[in-house]
Amino acid sequence: MIDKIKGHIADVESFNAKTKDEIEAFRIKYLGKKGILNEFFAEFKNVPNEEKKAFGQAINELKTSAQQKVNVLKEELENSQEEKGIYGDLTRPAEPVEIGSRHPISIVKNQITEIFSNIGFNVSEGPEMEDDWHNFTALNLPEYHPARDMQDTFFIQTDPDILLRTHTSSVQVRYMEENKPPIRTISPGRVFRNEAISARSHCIFHQVEGLYIDKDVSFADMKQTILYFTKQLFGKSKIRLRPSYFPFTEPSAEVDVYWGLETETDYRITKGTGWLEIMGCGMVDPNVLRNCNIDPQEYSGFAFGMGIERIAMLLYQIEDIRMFYENDLRFLEQFKSAL
Ligand code: DAH
Repeated sequence: MIDKIKGHIADVESFNAKTKDEIEAFRIKYLGKKGILNEFFAEFKNVPNEEKKAFGQAINELKTSAQQKVNVLKEELENSQEEKGIYGDLTRPAEPVEIGSRHPISIVKNQITEIFSNIGFNVSEGPEMEDDWHNFTALNLPEYHPARDMQDTFFIQTDPDILLRTHTSSVQVRYMEENKPPIRTISPGRVFRNEAISARSHCIFHQVEGLYIDKDVSFADMKQTILYFTKQLFGKSKIRLRPSYFPFTEPSAEVDVYWGLETETDYRITKGTGWLEIMGCGMVDPNVLRNCNIDPQEYSGFAFGMGIERIAMLLYQIEDIRMFYENDLRFLEQFKSAL
């Protein structure tokens, strides 16, 4: 019996076929329901116990070589057809292509950069690991300044002078140190704060910083620039500036957009006021200009900073900031159609 199987194995190995039908006939002969293999498998129970092992091994060998032969012949046939320009069954459905999608933070970041680059702002970047000077001191936050507590900082343990930047305002300083006015730049990037993680806040998030320095820049220039931005991004054309405080700007303001009170969601997200806070801004403090070797007698300017997560949450009605970092495909795939 084993010899018989060996004979079949030899037959299988020397077998060759050129057409689809021949290959199929071969497959049915060996691997089909009533094929040779199944006959042997049925025979198995009649084989004396001491021969069972060798018999089993032999039929398995036959099975593997028959399957391999079928695969190899099919592939050869397909390749030769492709060479001739015949691509098998042309009506078969196309292979699905996996389409990826951009992360919502990238989408919003790109939108913001696009809006500002249309009015002449370039994009600048700085390091995530910063020194005290660029993150605090140059921004009019000297050591022991109480406003340092506004942002809980991660320090690099071995060196108290090195920290993870708490805002992208540090890039302002770097940019002014390296470039002469006129300056129009925006700086998107990741920032870090030692804060408890919740639905509303995270220890890692993203900001976009804006800086505009030239001769005779006024508060009105700032307001118009921000208004242009909110119209472009949200399609909302009413903003208000509320007096606020930042050490690096004087005067400082918080910008609210009038979101409206048309839907129930509008009521909920604006807490019934219709207004939503979207960024901080102000006229760059003369001390900051001086720290960056720009003469405040000659130049003035404005700066602003906003959180990208916050804006993405508003645009896409995302309720929990943690969604951005969990990499849940059910969340991420919803942005497939966005740019
Ligand atoms: N750096 C501020 C923050 O992280 C945001 C900000 C406010 C940036 C006012 C500015 C500005 O440039 O002028 O909260």
